Amino acid sequence: MDLAELPHCCACALHTTRTRVVVGSGPPGPRLLVVGEAPGRHEDEGGEPFVGRSGQLLVRLILEELGLERAQYFVTNTVKCRPPHNRTPRASEVATCRPWLEAQIAALWPARILAVGNVAARAVFGFDEGISRTHGRRGQYLDVAGVATYHPAAALRAGPNVVDVMRADLRSLRSMGV
Ligand code: URA
Repeated sequence: MDLAELPHCCACALHTTRTRVVVGSGPPGPRLLVVGEAPGRHEDEGGEPFVGRSGQLLVRLILEELGLERAQYFVTNTVKCRPPHNRTPRASEVATCRPWLEAQIAALWPARILAVGNVAARAVFGFDEGISRTHGRRGQYLDVAGVATYHPAAALRAGPNVVDVMRADLRSLRSMGV
């Protein structure tokens, strides 16, 4: 896959409703690659991942638990185009977009991966149970190890308990040497 083609991808129907492909952003060879679910409205408009309220929470938790500034890690999504009305991406959309994620990982060579939310945990690490069971679990994608945690949107909905769980998951990642 030629990553230069990603901004023009029309491989699934999401290209008909998106404003732009949200490729992701961050430095090459990052200590951490964060993989979310799919762009929301703000991301679709601006082209940057995780810039909305849930993204701000995630950035803060990563800073507080891992000591990493946003400029030090790469952020992308499992599916690069916004699903209409922010619905959950379909399995077919995840499968169609997967080669792009594989190409990004091969190009970036991150040291660790944080899969954020159910869709990413399943797609990236192949976990076949829901995030309430797989959060904090160590996973592997190609040669890169990492951890899954809740999506920060779930923490915004559910409150401080989920934030505490996310902090603990991030500490597991830190113990793996991020
Ligand atoms: N939620 C995600 O999973 N990714 C984004 O980029 C924004 C919100």
